[in-house]
Parts: sequence; structure tokens; C-alpha cells
Amino acid sequence: MQHKTPIGVFDSGYGGLTVLKEMVALLPQYDFIYLGDNARAPYGTRSFESVYQYTLESVQWLFEKNCHLVVLACNTASAKALRSIQQIDLQKMGNEKRVLGVIRPTTELIGSYSKSNHIGILATSGTVSSQSYPIEIGKFFPKAKVFQQACPMLVPLVENNELRNSGCDFFVKKYVDQLLQQSSDIDTILLGCTHFPLLYDKIREYCPPSIQIISQGEIVANSLADYLHRHTRIESRLSQNSEREFYTTDSALEFDQHASLFYGKDIAAKHAQLKNS
Ligand code: DGL
Repeated sequence: MQHKTPIGVFDSGYGGLTVLKEMVALLPQYDFIYLGDNARAPYGTRSFESVYQYTLESVQWLFEKNCHLVVLACNTASAKALRSIQQIDLQKMGNEKRVLGVIRPTTELIGSYSKSNHIGILATSGTVSSQSYPIEIGKFFPKAKVFQQACPMLVPLVENNELRNSGCDFFVKKYVDQLLQQSSDIDTILLGCTHFPLLYDKIREYCPPSIQIISQGEIVANSLADYLHRHTRIESRLSQNSEREFYTTDSALEFDQHASLFYGKDIAAKHAQLKNS
């Protein structure tokens, strides 16, 4: 009989906790291990090669923790590393491991939120330059027009807990204005970075009330539930003791101080030493 193992969840830092929170709410019976690569965050302005390398090392670390199913709760890693990991690295490891991302489940649904078929995306520079959102949304909603705005300052502001200062307002307003200037028909804005739900109230403040703002957490959690329902062999190998473990490649103490803001609960993290971090 095969050993039962937790679901691995990965992000460059704290942002994936906004997704984990929704997964735990929907699927409380499963065990989860979270890894934040805070020592090397943010990923959003890094090259394809760096994001791929860092994400692969993190996924391998979660595999060594015995996870056989890992969710990249990070748009930048999903945009820049997921395909290579799925098509190259997992092939070499045999067929027992699975890695899922957040972009596909989001693009399968986002078009159904928009009446005008004009969708705005706020994301990191890496996610925007990968063109993953326009390409993937085009597959499911061919009539949709997608407008993207890179927000390179937002992840550092969130990671450094600078959400309440006027500098944060300045950048949120600037990016929202730049997005909305691209089309007056945008009626739906996707927060295409798992850090941005923390900025929801500020983004709301600078958007007309008629525009709806969509976070990914619930969408990704529902998609995971559906995946487990459809893949019974993978599901049957998941442990179900409602246990959560948290790891960071940076200081565990610092992680604990900031993480509750994202996860909504206190966390006691441990330090993870990755091969090259
Ligand atoms: N949470 C990551 C995302 O969804 C942020 C990436 C970063 O570290 O810049 O893209």
C-alpha cells in the first residue's frame, strides 16, 4: 500500500497563503504543507530562467517531503515555470507526481464574470510579459478582450507590510488608472497575483463601483476540489488528518509575524533549507 501524503502548496512568499486559506476552508480534511520562498521573493521581476530554477527547486523540496501533488499558488511561477516542470521535469521523474498551477483554473472561469467581454488583469511584470492570461483566456472565451497592467511595486509593498502607507496608495492608483485607460469597457478586473487580495480594499477604492474585482483563491480551491473528484487515484493517496505545516526559506520568526495577515490565523513556520537558496 502506498504511503498517504499531504498536498504541497508553493508561492514565492506569503501570497499563496491567500489561496491556501480557501483550499483549507473547502477541503479541511486534507493535510497541507506550504512553502514560501521568501528569501528569493519577489519572483515577478526575475528572468524566466531564475523563476523556473527557483520554482523547480521548491517543487523538488516538496516532493522530498513526500508530497505527490503540488499546487503552484503563484501566478508568476505558474506562468513561467509550470509548463517546463510538467513537460520536462515530471516526465523524468515517472508518472507518480503532479504539479498544478493557478492560471488555467482562473482562465476557465474569468470570462463568465464579464458582460462586456473586456477583462482587465493586474499582475506581476513576469506574468504580464508571459502573455499567459490573454493566450489562455482566448482558448476558453474567444470573444474576450484582455487588457493587462504590470504592477512591479505591489508585491514588494505587500511582502514588506507597507499596505497602509501613502506610497502604497500612490502605486495602486497609478496601476489601476493605467489599466482602465486601456479601455473604458473593462467591467471585470482579475487580481492575477496571489499577493493582491491583501490590496483588495485599496484597489476597490480606485475603481468605479460598476467594475467587479475578482480574487483567485476560491476559484483555485474549487478547481482543486474538482480535480480530486476526477482523479481518484491521486486523491486516494492524500492523507486526511487536517494537519497544516508551514515552511519558509527565510526567517521563520518573521514569516510568523506577517503570515496571519494573509492566512487569517496565526502560523508557526519552520525554516526550509533549499539546495541553492
Ligand atoms: N504571488 C505571486 C504571484 O501570484 C507573486 C510573485 C512575486 O514574487 O513577485 O504572481
